[in-house]
Amino acid sequence: MIRTGRIIPAARKESITLAAEVIRKGGLVAFPTETVYGLGCDALNPEAVARVFEAKQRPSFDPLIVHVAEKAALDGLTQTISLSDHRLMERFWPGPLTLLLPKRARVPDLVTAGLPTIAVRMPSHPVAQELIREAAVPIAAPSANPFGYVSPTCAQHVADGLGERVDLILDGGPCQLGVESTIASMIGSRPELLRPGSITLEEISKVVGPVVRARESLTMAVPGRLARHYATHTPLTILTGHTVRSVRPLGERAGLLAMTAPRHGEQRYCAIEVLSPSGDLREAAQHLFAALRRLDAQGFDRLYAEPCDERGLGMAIMDRLRRCAEPLT
Ligand code: TXA
Ligand code: MG
Repeated sequence: MIRTGRIIPAARKESITLAAEVIRKGGLVAFPTETVYGLGCDALNPEAVARVFEAKQRPSFDPLIVHVAEKAALDGLTQTISLSDHRLMERFWPGPLTLLLPKRARVPDLVTAGLPTIAVRMPSHPVAQELIREAAVPIAAPSANPFGYVSPTCAQHVADGLGERVDLILDGGPCQLGVESTIASMIGSRPELLRPGSITLEEISKVVGPVVRARESLTMAVPGRLARHYATHTPLTILTGHTVRSVRPLGERAGLLAMTAPRHGEQRYCAIEVLSPSGDLREAAQHLFAALRRLDAQGFDRLYAEPCDERGLGMAIMDRLRRCAEPLT
């Protein structure tokens, strides 16, 4: 397309103009959102969408999220929107909430993996908004990482993982939230949470009443929700108690992902990443993927991760850690 794999500063007006042109011509642009970096293309151009799947080596049965900058754009993408969905949009858009809505026929089947629903979100990041407005098309964008690896939270992560498979990378600095959007569906008989994120189950319940956490076995299997999906190359084990820190096999070279400043047993780790010295979950989520990547780059035998309390944002952090961890059996 234009100049492949190039990182350009998102703050410049001409960068957005160029990126929008790449999108309109069917190219791929990685761009910042408040959650993680996305690998964007024109959602209504099936060839461009196919290039996204190819660049990520993503199986075609894993549907993409479509990003819009204003509610009016939904008219061309979705059919009737329920009252609950309208309420959630009022309360949380723009922001890190993805909703499943009945799709229109003009949305390419590749985007939704043949499903009757389309996942839509309105990002709050100003660069994402400008890009969508300037491109004047809805932008389909999965996280800008090779399929199965940890999501990118800065422009360099995208370049490391996708390199020249992306036409342009808009650098908007590190992402503020650090975990992917919450995915919710109002389509079944009860509101469902498909993927926890920084908009919590508790917050959604306040708007639409009780929300059930979708069980993988009961709903369609989508890879974003498959067991080992956000995996590091180095095997990762979630610690189950403070004592476990000191019972690692002797001679093992290990790294520790600590939620807060470690208190004991840590001298046996070759490297420690502290997610939030003060134990703040927002800060922990923001640093999670970059810390995992740094630990993963050091070639240790194993990584250990401390768990956090599974309430609020802790649910999203533990969800990502579990998907990263090796199955125990
Ligand atoms: O924060 C985010 O959501 C980021 C940024 C870039 O917006 N995007 C993101 O996309 O995390 P991705 O492709 O990595 O994860 C999207 C997940 C899919 O794996 C799938 O689980 C779910 O969204 N999904 C998309 N369309 C769906 C549908 N129609 N029904 C059920 N799940 C769907
Ligand atoms: Mg992803």
